[in-house]
Amino acid sequence: MSPENSGPAAVIVLAAGAGTRMKSRTPKILHEIGGRSLVGHALAAARAIRPRELALVVRHERDLVASHVAALDPDALIVDQDEVPGTGRAVEAALDALDALDPHASLSGTVVVTYGDVPLLTGQLLAGLVAAHEADRNAVTVLTAVLEDATGYGRILRAADGTVTGIREHKDATDAERGIREVNSGIYAFDAAVLRDSLAHVTTDNAQGEKYLTDVLALARAAGGRVAAVVTEDRWQVEGANDRVQLSALGAELNRRTVEAWMRAGVTVVDPATTWIDATVTLDEDVRLLPNTQLHGATTVARDAAVGPDTTLTDVQVGEGATVIRTHGSGSRIGAKASVGPFTYLRPGTVLGETGKIGAFYETKNVTIGRGSKLSHLGYAGDAEIGEDTNIGCGNITANYDGEKKHRTVIGSGVRTGSNTVFVAPVQVGDGAYSGAGAVIRSDVPAGALAVSLAKQRNAEGWVLANRPGSNSAALAKAAGAAAPPSSTTPASTEEG
Ligand code: UD1
Ligand code: CA
Repeated sequence: MSPENSGPAAVIVLAAGAGTRMKSRTPKILHEIGGRSLVGHALAAARAIRPRELALVVRHERDLVASHVAALDPDALIVDQDEVPGTGRAVEAALDALDALDPHASLSGTVVVTYGDVPLLTGQLLAGLVAAHEADRNAVTVLTAVLEDATGYGRILRAADGTVTGIREHKDATDAERGIREVNSGIYAFDAAVLRDSLAHVTTDNAQGEKYLTDVLALARAAGGRVAAVVTEDRWQVEGANDRVQLSALGAELNRRTVEAWMRAGVTVVDPATTWIDATVTLDEDVRLLPNTQLHGATTVARDAAVGPDTTLTDVQVGEGATVIRTHGSGSRIGAKASVGPFTYLRPGTVLGETGKIGAFYETKNVTIGRGSKLSHLGYAGDAEIGEDTNIGCGNITANYDGEKKHRTVIGSGVRTGSNTVFVAPVQVGDGAYSGAGAVIRSDVPAGALAVSLAKQRNAEGWVLANRPGSNSAALAKAAGAAAPPSSTTPASTEEG
């Protein structure tokens, strides 16, 4: 046994059920909360206790679930359940598959069973269950909770002295048994040999015609094994997501826990109620999150950075001391002490260097911006490379698309571009170059050159007095000293041809 696999012999995650109450074309366990699928959360909790083997039982939408799980956890063993229904049959299928992994021995030791649709379960609670199970040398240890309304759940049956004697499914229970409020979470630790032997004796002789895993408890006890329960006070950790109402309640609770954990780890969260942080996000100490901020996916925020208000970042790396205000960003990297926003749209491939700036009403995509360079206001930069300490003037645009293909714009360091410059890609601008306001850069600009491309401005003096007589503009122009031109030289218009 390698040191990193010091946990139980196996975890079996049950995920063969249909989940019809979700009313969705997406299999229930692929629905997401906190940036992970339900089954992704189940796998994370299972992996946290370092089992030697991890098996997942599938049937409904088998291929979709199997490929999703294979992508998340390539080492998980996918097991198909046959047409015999019930949690007992699901576990039996998994045990057979696990036993088949080693031709010389069948699985022995502790086997944990969990569900694919119980997303708030933590590795910590599972580890506690396994520890209690192994310390007391139990045959079966079931995780239970005491609920106000136990309708639908299997009830925990106890003898007068409190020992657990079995589980009764709601549909099979007497009225008296339905009064019991301690319920089966569906999460257990079993001794592998006891589980195998007991399942061989489980029948489908019950109200639902299913092979109940819950029957193993009474059978294990009859065979002389110790059966016990670990009662959790934290009902959220054993709650399944069966419909969209539960999905959203579990999502909100997961978020509340995630946000609280980050605050305890040194992150300032001004408004926890409007701050959403995926389980996959990483934050450093002294990060500040302002109201209405959503951090998704592989987003990371480094020390002293401030994000928000009103910001959504997906897979964005925010550097130390950076500020990101009212921004929608994905697949981007923001350098240390850089600033982004307000009203900024960072699309994938945006890399902003240290102390750089992407300001108001800017959209960027697939652009690398060097240290200290600024794109302060109103523009679009796509498929471009910008050097260091360059100032891109207001309203600049990279015209990167010719209607069929995308082209690159390469702008050097120390460049100063005039307002409303358009870069018609592919085009290159050398270091230290300037452009005049309104320049349309269609050909390369050498280092240190000033590029201007508009026709020279001319003023038709007195044009307003001659062409707009009697208007307020004419009166004000006259008061300011303007005189009408000789009528023969008055141009009809100032527009360029
Ligand atoms: C089960 C338990 C019940 C417990 C409840 C907790 C049994 C017989 N009953 O009831 O005591 O209180 O969970 O939620 O075990 N599954 C399979 N294959 C199957 C049937 C189910 O893999 O043939 C999986 C489902 O995908 C799900 C889990 O097992 O993840 C539970 O199935 P579900 O039908 O919800 O069980 P319940 O009848 O609610
Ligand atoms: Ca259930």
